[in-house]
Amino acid sequence: MYKKVTVKTIQKFKDENKKFSVLTAYDYSTAKYIDEAGIDVILIGDSLSMVALGYDTTHSIGIEEMRIFTGAVARGVQRALIVTDMPFLSYHTDVPSAVKNCGEMIKLGANAVKIEGFSDYILDVIRRLVETGIPVMGHLGFTPQFLNTLGGYKIQGKTKEAADEILKQAKKLEKAGVFSIVLEMVPQESAKYITENLTVPTISCGAGKYCDAQVLVSDDVFGKYSDFKPKFARKYGDMRNLIFECAKQYNDDVKSGKFPSDEEVF
Ligand code: KIV
Repeated sequence: MYKKVTVKTIQKFKDENKKFSVLTAYDYSTAKYIDEAGIDVILIGDSLSMVALGYDTTHSIGIEEMRIFTGAVARGVQRALIVTDMPFLSYHTDVPSAVKNCGEMIKLGANAVKIEGFSDYILDVIRRLVETGIPVMGHLGFTPQFLNTLGGYKIQGKTKEAADEILKQAKKLEKAGVFSIVLEMVPQESAKYITENLTVPTISCGAGKYCDAQVLVSDDVFGKYSDFKPKFARKYGDMRNLIFECAKQYNDDVKSGKFPSDEEVF
């Protein structure tokens, strides 16, 4: 019997100094297996734009794709907290449409949403979402939806002043009501300083070991996505070769007449 992970469980993990795990999933079967493996939070990351749909950046997908993948993941998960990453332009234009788009993900089975960045407008969006009953995960440091304004994949928070700025933003997100904050590509010591000065948990995405949790893209962990591997990701398997070998063997068997066998026919 499983006990569903909620935003309260996540806070309890931090309060009790227990690390928790966050991993992305985009489809039903993967979500089911990583849930069974004990992953605490499953994120339908907008990274799916690159790793599942083959686009160059996360900008290319919209609310329609997130609807489909959120539904698929939600149908596979029983225990983990399900978080949908809100795609580019789905929460940026005005607060009512942000609430509507985020609310749709909750209707499809997500338990929370993630939104990137910091501004007075983002704080308004977070407050309104939380008032509506939609838990929000924040995302600071390197924020891929701001790739063009940040000028590339650049480490953020390198100096004391820059770390202080991220902490200042994080405290405002916390005050607006986020239940956790992803820190992406922030030096380990800066992330430690930020984590120690926040009440809500921080989730490291290339921000070192002192955060309260770790997040990685599942295709990196499984060794499935082979176009690029971030320095901070760890490959635990070689799905790319596994898929290749299975497909190759099937191809050979079909062509040599070894498939199907007598047991595989009616
Ligand atoms: O899109 C994503 O998968 C993410 C995480 C890696 C934090 O935003």
